[in-house]
Amino acid sequence: MNPKTAYQARDYARFYDWTYEGTIEDIPFYLAAAGEHGSPVLELACGTGRITIPLAREGLEVIGLDISAEMLRIAKEKLSKERPEVRARVRLIEADMSDFALDEAVSLAFIPAASLFHLSGQEEQSSCLSCASKHLGPGGALIVDLIPADRMANQAVGETREIGRSVSPSTGLLTRELNKKLSIDKEAQQVTVEHTYVEQLPDESEKRYVFVEHYTWVTEDQMRGLLAEAEFTKVEVFGGYEREPFTDASERMIFVAVK
Ligand SMILES: C[S@@+](CC[C@H](N)C(=O)[O-])C[C@H]1O[C@@H](n2cnc3c(N)ncnc32)[C@H](O)[C@@H]1O
Repeated sequence: MNPKTAYQARDYARFYDWTYEGTIEDIPFYLAAAGEHGSPVLELACGTGRITIPLAREGLEVIGLDISAEMLRIAKEKLSKERPEVRARVRLIEADMSDFALDEAVSLAFIPAASLFHLSGQEEQSSCLSCASKHLGPGGALIVDLIPADRMANQAVGETREIGRSVSPSTGLLTRELNKKLSIDKEAQQVTVEHTYVEQLPDESEKRYVFVEHYTWVTEDQMRGLLAEAEFTKVEVFGGYEREPFTDASERMIFVAVK
C-alpha cells in the first residue's frame, strides 16, 4: 500500500519529537475545551501523543487516532513510561481520519497542528469532518486548528531554510532540520514541501533523510461550508490559543464548531 503521508516512514516519525520538543502552547487550549465539553475526547492525527498524553495525565479519557503505525509506536513507547492510571485512560487507534468509525461517542474531537491539511483535498477533508461529526452528540464540539490560507499561499518557493539545529536526545547526534517549499499551486490550494533531516555522524560525515509532503489548505469560507455540511450549527473562529479574535494578522485559524 502506498503511504498517504511521510509520517508513515520510520525515519520521518523518529524525528518528530525532536522537531516538536517544547511545543506546548496549544495543550492548555484543548484542556480548557475538554473542561467545557467533557470527556472522552478524540484526537484525530494524534501522532506520538504530544497532546494525548498530557491530557490523559490531567484525568481525561483520550482516544488518539492516527494513520501512521510508526507515530503510534512511539506514542505507545512513551505511554508505557506513564503511571498505570494514565495508561488506562488512553486508547490508540491506527486509522485514516478521513474514513473511520469508532464504537463509542465522544464529547469533543479535535484535529491539532494543521493536520487536516494532510488530507488530499476538500473531498477527503469533508469526509473527515463528517466522520468526526458522527461521533459527537448534540452539544458536542469539534476543534480544527489550521494555518490561515493567505499564509499558506504566500510562502517563498525554492529557498532552503534551516529551521532547527540541536543534539537529538534520542541519538546523541547533532541534527539539523531543513525546509524547502518545492511548489505552491494556488488553484489546487496545495503546497509541496521537502523536509530534510541531516545527522552529523561520529566520523563527521553527514546522513540525510529527505521527505516530500503535500499540504492542502482551505479558506475560512470553505471551512465554514465544510463544517455546515458536516452538520455543525455554531461555528466560531479564533486567531490563537488564547481565543484571540481571528484577523488578517493571525498566525492560526482555529475553528470551534458545535453540533
Ligand atoms: C503534525 S503531526 C501532529 C501530531 C499530533 N497531533 C501533534 O500535534 O503533535 C501530523 C499527524 O497527522 C497524521 N496523519 C496524516 N494523514 C493522516 C490521515 N489520513 N489519518 C490520520 N492521521 C493522519 C500523521 O501520521 C501525523 O502523525
